[in-house]
Amino acid sequence: MPRLTLPALLDPHVHLRGMDWAYKADFASETAAALAGGYWAVLDMPNTAPSTIDRPALDRKLAEIGAAAVCDWGVYFGASQADNTAAYAAVMGDVCGLKIYNNATTGTLLIDDQARREAIYAAWPGTKPIAVHAEGETVRDILALVRKYHRLTHFCHISTAEEIGYLQAARVEGLPISIGVTPHHLYLTQDDLPALGPLGLMKPELKTRADRDALWAAIASGLVDVIESDHAPHTLEEKHGPKPVYGVPGLETTLPLLGLAIHEGRLSVDRLVALVAENPRRIFGLRAPADTYTVLDLDASVVIDNAALHTKCGWSPFAGMRVRGRVAEVWLRGRRVYDGERVLAAPGSGRNVAA
Ligand code: DOR
Ligand code: ZN
Repeated sequence: MPRLTLPALLDPHVHLRGMDWAYKADFASETAAALAGGYWAVLDMPNTAPSTIDRPALDRKLAEIGAAAVCDWGVYFGASQADNTAAYAAVMGDVCGLKIYNNATTGTLLIDDQARREAIYAAWPGTKPIAVHAEGETVRDILALVRKYHRLTHFCHISTAEEIGYLQAARVEGLPISIGVTPHHLYLTQDDLPALGPLGLMKPELKTRADRDALWAAIASGLVDVIESDHAPHTLEEKHGPKPVYGVPGLETTLPLLGLAIHEGRLSVDRLVALVAENPRRIFGLRAPADTYTVLDLDASVVIDNAALHTKCGWSPFAGMRVRGRVAEVWLRGRRVYDGERVLAAPGSGRNVAA
């Protein structure tokens, strides 16, 4: 298979950092990483500094990302332990959806009280998705709310056979859900932790080989809708520090890892396009701009090299791994914005996909 043209890729789950966490990564560096990874657009999570849970924080993020972004982008509003439901209606036009952190994570947005979750579901206007971080039994708690309030709910980074079982049943029941998995849960397990050390720490954590196999099976069966990177850059100092932080970068390694899956016969090109482009665009109700596509050299055999990454953090848990596929070009609105090495788009040329 030679060069593939892939239509307008969307990663609906990234942590670009910026603002008070710009020392980790910033909107310029990470949207450049998105283009280098082959993406048209990325959707930024709200667990930033400051958290995207009120109008001033949202306005600050919109201004800073708007000035810097080289790819298109969207931002989530965050559900908050301190009630912010009154703000929902007014932010709808600016955001791509709502994020609820139902299990422990980076930042301060944890909502582990089911009554609070229910108040949030009741308040969120029905038109844009709710994305949830829910692990294990918490998946069932959220499904109870989906059943009651019929809000389209995207289950982020599903990582276990148990969770797949709950969601398979919910799909059969006809609940309005979608399911994302990450490349790190598809390619790494807890067996890799001794070698990776703190670079293998993220939430949800790496799981067993049986869990990983259940994720691949759910991709093959069509249950999984989206591959999302959960791109979460941290500095190496923080990762190797006394209290290692959770999260790994992924924007520039997702496509070559999925190219490897195609070469291994685990994924078809059509399924790849569904998982990284068509399904995420449909779930979030986003239309791709005209003349927007990625040229992927699927035959290229590449060793992941930290020095070649655009992400400001400069490392990958996959460094040294041989993968297949190199992003040769990215075109956005008829302009070539990435040439295989360099980003050619001007800062601020990326647009808010929700606007
Ligand atoms: O590993 C993670 N890192 N999981 C999350 O849920 C958040 C993310 C981050 O922001 O670092
Ligand atoms: Zn995340």
